Amino acid sequence: MTAGHPKLLWLPLAPFEREGLRRALERAGLPHDDIDAPGRWFWRFEENDVPVGFGGIEVHGDDGLLRIVTLPVLRHRGLGGAIATALEGETVALGCRTLYVVVGGEAAFFAEQGYVPSRPDAIPVAIAASLPAGTDLVMAKQVG
Ligand SMILES: CC(C)(COP(=O)(O)OP(=O)(O)OC[C@H]1O[C@@H](n2cnc3c(N)ncnc32)[C@H](O)[C@@H]1OP(=O)(O)O)[C@@H](O)C(=O)NCCC(=O)NCCS
Repeated sequence: MTAGHPKLLWLPLAPFEREGLRRALERAGLPHDDIDAPGRWFWRFEENDVPVGFGGIEVHGDDGLLRIVTLPVLRHRGLGGAIATALEGETVALGCRTLYVVVGGEAAFFAEQGYVPSRPDAIPVAIAASLPAGTDLVMAKQVG
């Protein structure tokens, strides 16, 4: 249950269930070719049995790399914030303490969720190795 969206549910996606996720990430301009690689966990988010978005965490020890997408017609209703909160809980359950995200054009959204800009030299090596080429701003949040 998450504030503002008490009926939000999230279902873990097995590798064979990830085609919708792949398309949603691709349409949003997010990395999508690596989703079956080891250490990636993904969920489909639903509200009242209707898919509303996807989220994922790439685990590197204490650190996680977040991906989140709300379906375009459902944006600006607080779903992204609710999905981020849910994923932060999953991140802790997976044993991570810090969550990183490549913010793209969404720095204001992630700032609102409590993420702060990460200095390039403070980004863990394993997270840095997973960042898409041309990444400019990475933000991070202590979640555990
Ligand atoms: C980033 C993203 C997940 C946000 O999803 P969302 O469902 O629109 O998120 P929210 O509704 O919680 O918040 C978005 C904005 O709407 C505002 N908002 C929240 N509830 C609102 C409401 N009821 N009415 C109007 N605005 C609202 C928020 O304050 C926020 O404003 P901000 O961006 O200026 O901080 C979505 O834009 C997306 O999928 N983008 C493409 C993928 C991407 O860039 N992902 C991030 C990098 S991995």
